[in-house]
Amino acid sequence: MVIHLKKVVPVGRTFDEYIKMFNLTENDCKRWILSVADGPASFNTEGTQLGYTIKSVDPLYVFNSEQIKTRFYEVIDDIIKQVENTSNDWVWSYHKSPQQLRKNRERVIALFCEDYEQGKKENRYEIGELPKLKYKDNEYELGLISHFLFLYSEYFDQQFHLDAIGEMLRVCQEVRIFPLITLKHEISPYVDIVIKIFKNKDYECKIETVSYELQPKGNQMLKITKV
Ligand SMILES: C[S@@+](CC[C@H](N)C(=O)[O-])C[C@H]1O[C@@H](n2cnc3c(N)ncnc32)[C@H](O)[C@@H]1O
Repeated sequence: MVIHLKKVVPVGRTFDEYIKMFNLTENDCKRWILSVADGPASFNTEGTQLGYTIKSVDPLYVFNSEQIKTRFYEVIDDIIKQVENTSNDWVWSYHKSPQQLRKNRERVIALFCEDYEQGKKENRYEIGELPKLKYKDNEYELGLISHFLFLYSEYFDQQFHLDAIGEMLRVCQEVRIFPLITLKHEISPYVDIVIKIFKNKDYECKIETVSYELQPKGNQMLKITKV
């Protein structure tokens, strides 16, 4: 896929947000983690500093840090303006206000960009995109995917979701997906079928409530485990 910088919205989340979105325990963090569609999140940089082993995969990584940061500052004003205009449609228990949300996102892009070039040299940020990954069967213990599957159900169909999740389960012993809702803040039409199909393939599928919520009712995570 050719990716155009002008179409990219490189806004990412923190390590603390990942901990809460995925109910990650200390032991979970010590597992070999593959974080797919990781974008410009600071999960990898902060997690690496804490001594964890995290690989991030995203098509965004064809760009350099300057390009990603410049694009972030081109889009962030509009995003925050849209959030301010619909402020009652969001849950502020974590970020407190649209302005604080902006500060948090600026902190993330700064942390990400400081680490990114070095992280690329260490193969912690690798170019890749679902529904195919270049890694070996069971190479990773835990696969995470935040704000991509289910969220963009309007743009990626049911087959894409099944293929992408199947591929993550080929590579990882366990996969966690957050959130389960779409951009319209409705539960994705693919959640039930994903659970049904992977249960039939003898995976354990469990929806867990998490303590992170920015989109209303967007406080659930799907955990799929090989049994
Ligand atoms: C909303 S961002 C989420 C970033 C990060 N996971 C977070 O929560 O902060 C969605 C990411 O999905 C990536 N993406 C787009 N198409 C993809 C694909 N086919 N496979 C993997 N990632 C993809 C984008 O480049 C973008 O970085």
